[in-house]
Amino acid sequence: MEQTIRVELSETLKEKPKTDQLEFGRVFTDHMFVMEYTEPLGWHNPSIVPYQPLTIDPSAMIFHYGQSVFEGLKAYLTSDGDAQLFRPERNLKRLNRSNQRLCIPEIDEKLALKAIKELVALEKDWIPGAEGTSLYIRPFIISTEPYLGVAPSRHYKFIVILSPVGAYYKEGINPVKIAVESQFVRAVVGGTGEAKTGGNYASSLKAQEVVAKEGYAQVLWLDGVEKKYIEEVGSMNVFFKINGEVVTPALNGSILEGVTRNSVIQLLKHWNVPVVERKISIDELHEAYKAGQLEEAFGAGTAAVISPIGQLTWRKEHLVINNGETGEISKKVYDTLTEIQYGKTEDPFDWVE
Ligand code: COI
Repeated sequence: MEQTIRVELSETLKEKPKTDQLEFGRVFTDHMFVMEYTEPLGWHNPSIVPYQPLTIDPSAMIFHYGQSVFEGLKAYLTSDGDAQLFRPERNLKRLNRSNQRLCIPEIDEKLALKAIKELVALEKDWIPGAEGTSLYIRPFIISTEPYLGVAPSRHYKFIVILSPVGAYYKEGINPVKIAVESQFVRAVVGGTGEAKTGGNYASSLKAQEVVAKEGYAQVLWLDGVEKKYIEEVGSMNVFFKINGEVVTPALNGSILEGVTRNSVIQLLKHWNVPVVERKISIDELHEAYKAGQLEEAFGAGTAAVISPIGQLTWRKEHLVINNGETGEISKKVYDTLTEIQYGKTEDPFDWVE
């Protein structure tokens, strides 16, 4: 039986931001979705309510042991004034995979999709129209049981908030500088690297803070055991064009399985551009660079979209890629992906809805 979502409308509406000056994730819309989990009821009371602070017991487990998961997807405004989502089912599937890893009870993906669609429809006027902007959708689950024992919580909140956003990096779609991280590690196989959980991001902050002082947008993570194989950037998966072939690190249990990553691979295959998912070491990449074969590098993620990498710094050596400019494949993937997302071109893959 289809569950109905209770709706409580806000009495006052906020002023909307100017869409040509939007940052990432600083402004939130008038409403949010909330659903509770308690035992023995399970997930219940799905509601759209006015956006508001939460009242949570200071002993709630989220504050102490970090049991939480989140997702990121976007709603786009088409030229007909419609809102469309990009592959939302994949995000909800991944949310449940993260739930399994974090011992959080799974959500009903159909109900979550209905909630997101109803919330986005209600907040449609918040979807910005300026180029490169969208409405970022942040579903997340936190453990709320008041208890200090280390165990899975028995109470949770599933919340969806919306934020009109511009580019994630201050560089916009211009190439970013990335430092290869050689001291800290992000994840190991068997850990939580392939789950989307706050702890992965908390533990990445130190490395990020160090390189930000030197003008780098982010770090490129190597594997957590040998510090040899390339994994991901943290807010995006990475792709390298080496001697005509596009290579991206194979999913190995510690890399996040990006929805944009999967879409890029499908697009490249559709164009008959050679693309492989395999292990790639930083030494191999360095060798390819020295041989003049590292033709392009770019990151792919929901927030970051397609972000060309103009420079990689490895052991103090600056690898300037494609003269620090956006490469041909990065540009073609960016253009096609965003045209599909904004409904400006045909969607041969049935990705938008
Ligand atoms: C996303 O791309 O949606 C992410 O979750 C990355 C980051 C903003 C945490």
